[in-house]
Amino acid sequence: MASCWQVTEKQGFLIAPNPVTDPLPFLSNTERSAVTEIMDVASSLSQLVADGRCREACLALPIPNFSGSDVILDERAAERLHQAYAFLSNGYLWQPGAEPTRQLPRTLAIPFVQLSARVKRPPTLSYTNTQLTNWRRLDPAGEISVENIKAVQMFQSLPDEEWFWVLHIVIEARGAPAVIAGTRLVQAAKMNDIDQIEIQLEIIRCGLETIIELAGRMEEGCRPEVYYETLRPYLFAHPDGVVFDGVEAFGGKPQTFLGQTGAQSALIPAICTSLGLRHARSELTTYLEAVRAYMPEPHRQFVAGLEGQVVRDCVSSTVSQNPVRTLYNSCVEKVVEFRRLHLGLAANYIASRMDNPRGTGGTDFMRWLKHMTRETTEQML
Ligand code: HEM
Repeated sequence: MASCWQVTEKQGFLIAPNPVTDPLPFLSNTERSAVTEIMDVASSLSQLVADGRCREACLALPIPNFSGSDVILDERAAERLHQAYAFLSNGYLWQPGAEPTRQLPRTLAIPFVQLSARVKRPPTLSYTNTQLTNWRRLDPAGEISVENIKAVQMFQSLPDEEWFWVLHIVIEARGAPAVIAGTRLVQAAKMNDIDQIEIQLEIIRCGLETIIELAGRMEEGCRPEVYYETLRPYLFAHPDGVVFDGVEAFGGKPQTFLGQTGAQSALIPAICTSLGLRHARSELTTYLEAVRAYMPEPHRQFVAGLEGQVVRDCVSSTVSQNPVRTLYNSCVEKVVEFRRLHLGLAANYIASRMDNPRGTGGTDFMRWLKHMTRETTEQML
């Protein structure tokens, strides 16, 4: 059976074919009753958060054993459970009205770490939990659109939170043809097939236009102040690390992770890599490499396997007025346009609301988002 993380032309990096929203049918009998209880709490997370009862509910959870390979029989069910624990954990750590804590109780820590070993990603909230696996279709036969997609797991269930997740999910799906075109572009460049290069560059240009148009709709459903005040606080990892109670492998030592961020999406990195765009080694590139550990493993390999330099070499060898060169440059311009728009979002939703702004990954993000935009502009041919 194909992995749920195969990259497809219709859904790109989104879990395929659909997320599993109820893991129960995919569990061995031994853990079903415990998981029923856990999923009930995960489904009521917004209410528990609003009532200030999230910690109390998490402390009372049973501790299932997910360590055997025959306990969860479907990769997507393991993802749904990982997602439930990721949301519960951040709800627990950052419960509003209570002192933040770095101590994750054994009821969350033990199963979360077992599930993390299974999905091969760290035991912390990531873009995979909040976007790639966080959707269902209203019309099962309908497409992935803002009208037809609902989020499965939320912290507050405010329309703004749902819009924030859903818009990213739709961007992933609508950007998918550009990702697949990127792989074909590299193949075409290896064969010096100019006609094919042109065709694939045009698909990438259109894909980037769609991504820009959708990203520009953020404020339509997600108010910046609501995002900043009610959603963003849940997206951080504890800066001093989290202590996982009862997890012997960690020996009581705090584990430090990066916070949830759009930088954990493989979409823009895949498109940029296939165009052969590069950034000089710096604190920024180190950070962008570190966030790859939060992507599903096949996506890390997908991006790493894109040999975009051959595309740049091939396009550079054409004369300056050549249509292929013009088209390549218009793709680079679109990446710059996305980064400018994105910089505006980061300024409006975050930086303008705080002194000394730091991203959920702890970086001085305004400085480096500007830097990346500038470096992209310099790569026109
Ligand atoms: C209100 C909406 C958004 C805000 C406030 C926002 C904020 C940020 C911030 C602060 C960073 C810096 C990295 C960090 O601290 O981890 C970042 C990076 C990034 N974000 Fe967003 N973002 C938003 C929407 C999006 C969208 C729609 C996408 C599209 C997939 C996206 C993709 C990225 C990427 C790829 C990076 C890495 C830098 C780059 O390649 O340009 N973000 N974002």
